[in-house]
Order: sequence, then structure tokens, then C-alpha cells
Amino acid sequence: MFTVRPNDAILGATIEGLDTAGPIDAGDFARLLLALGRHGVLRFPDQHLDDPALRGFAERFGAIQGSVAKEAAAGRAVPEVGVLSNIRQGGQLIGFPDAGQDWHTDMSYRDLMGFVNVLYGVRIPRRDGRALGGTEFANMHAAYDALPEALRARLADATVTHDFNQYWENARRAGSTRPPLTPEQRRARPPAVHPLFLTHPITGRKVLYCNPGYAERINELPEAESAEMLAFLFAHQLRPEFRWTHVWTENDLLVWDHLGTIHRAIADYRADEPRLIRRCQVLATRVFDPDFLAPLHAAQHAM
Ligand code: SIN
Repeated sequence: MFTVRPNDAILGATIEGLDTAGPIDAGDFARLLLALGRHGVLRFPDQHLDDPALRGFAERFGAIQGSVAKEAAAGRAVPEVGVLSNIRQGGQLIGFPDAGQDWHTDMSYRDLMGFVNVLYGVRIPRRDGRALGGTEFANMHAAYDALPEALRARLADATVTHDFNQYWENARRAGSTRPPLTPEQRRARPPAVHPLFLTHPITGRKVLYCNPGYAERINELPEAESAEMLAFLFAHQLRPEFRWTHVWTENDLLVWDHLGTIHRAIADYRADEPRLIRRCQVLATRVFDPDFLAPLHAAQHAM
């Protein structure tokens, strides 16, 4: 029986007493999902996971998305596990050095959106004893709740177009050395449309589902009004009271809910301060399925 210890913050809880490399029965997994919906980000300290174990744990949440940059997975025994790192071997970077440094929600640009990210901290940069390279989150349940009532009513049925290429090009403009997407890569990641306000499948509450990285247009508004409204929503969702930063420790396993949060990686470390994180990006292939949610309702009643 593990313990859920909520942070004294707008987001986050630590799960104590669970080995994520071992078997987790359906009842315990349902409790984890409930905690994830409620707290948005779950930290499992002191975990010991090789790539197959990391993939196995991540797959409990749904199917894992591969990288659009096929060379990123080339030669790896477990291609579903991505590598985020500024470390070089033989002059070559071993992973993506600058992934996720703008506010975003992974896979909001896909018809089948993202559900969770599962990240395992292997090497964490430190300066003067202080951990760097944290991951910052903002709470989209709270952001929705704090919107003016009239705006929630007016945009109740609005939809938003999300585009992968927008994020990619913004990163290039900000100095990333990543090459432009090839026509083939752009075809593999066409824009997707989602409701602006989504009902969260675990909490049953509304969330603000848009993010500065990928959201490019509110489809029901004229272009200029859409741009103005998105600028307002982006500023609103990043209000300081909705935000919380995870400070990494080696062997942390971190799972976060993409439907109820947005996030960014904090680039406050240098190229010679090594950071190595292993990542699985999990799609919402299961979380909207009533069969997947049934044990969760049972766990809720038992609590
Ligand atoms: C991500 O956006 O998945 C990366 C987050 C991080 O590296 O902290």
C-alpha cells in the first residue's frame, strides 16, 4: 500500500512506498490515476528503472508516441524511450538538448492527444550544490476555474487548432539548432483541432486546454480576435498562482497529466553541466475508454 503525500502547492504529490519497476495491481493503478487527476504531477522518488521497465510502466497509461526525428531512436534497443540530454559522446549529442523549453502540452497537436509524460531523471545538473534544469508546470483546472464566467460561457463550444510546426519554428527562432521539419515530417504531424475547454476524464471537471507552444487559432473567432483572445489566455494560464516547479533529484520518476497541466523545461544550466532524462510520451489511447476508467470509479468509492 503506497502513500500519496500532496505538495503544499497548487500541483504535485509524492508517491511513497511504490516500486514502479515491479508489478502494480489494478486497484493500486486506479489509485495512482486518481492521484494524477487530483494533483497533476506525481513524483516517485528513488526508482531504479532500465529502459524496458520504464516503457512497461509508461504503457500502463496508454500507447507511447515515437519521435518525429527517426534518427533520434535509431540504434536504441527500446525506441519508445526518448533521450533528453546535453551530453555529447564522440562529439555527438546523445539526445535532444533543448526539448520542451517553451510552455506547451505534449501531443496537443495530434488528433489523439497526449495523456501523460513519464520522465526518469538519470543525471541532474548542479551548481554550488543547487539542482538546475527543473520542470515547471501550470494547473489548468485552476486556470479554467479562474476565468471570468462570461468568457467561459462565450467560448463554451470553441475549438482550437494546434500545430506542431509552430512550436518547432518558434524553437528555431529562439536559437535551437534543430533543422526545419522536412515535408515528410510535416505530413506526419498535421495540425489537430480540440475543444478549448475539455472535460477531464478523471476529475470530470473542465480544464483550459490550450498552450502557447502549439495553439495557433480559435477557429470560431475572426483571425485578429482569435490572436487577441489567445494572447489573453496564454497570459492567464501562466499567472504565478497556477505555477509550480519540480526540482529534480537523480532517480526521480515523474508522471504528469497533459490534460490538466501545461509545462516547460527550465534551461538554466550550461552545456558543460550534464543533464540526462529518459522520457516516454504517452497518448490518450486509453484514458477516455470507460473500461479503463471503471476501476477508477470503484477506487474512488472505496476511499
Ligand atoms: C518535456 O517537455 O517533456 C521535457 C521536460 C523536461 O525535460 O524537463
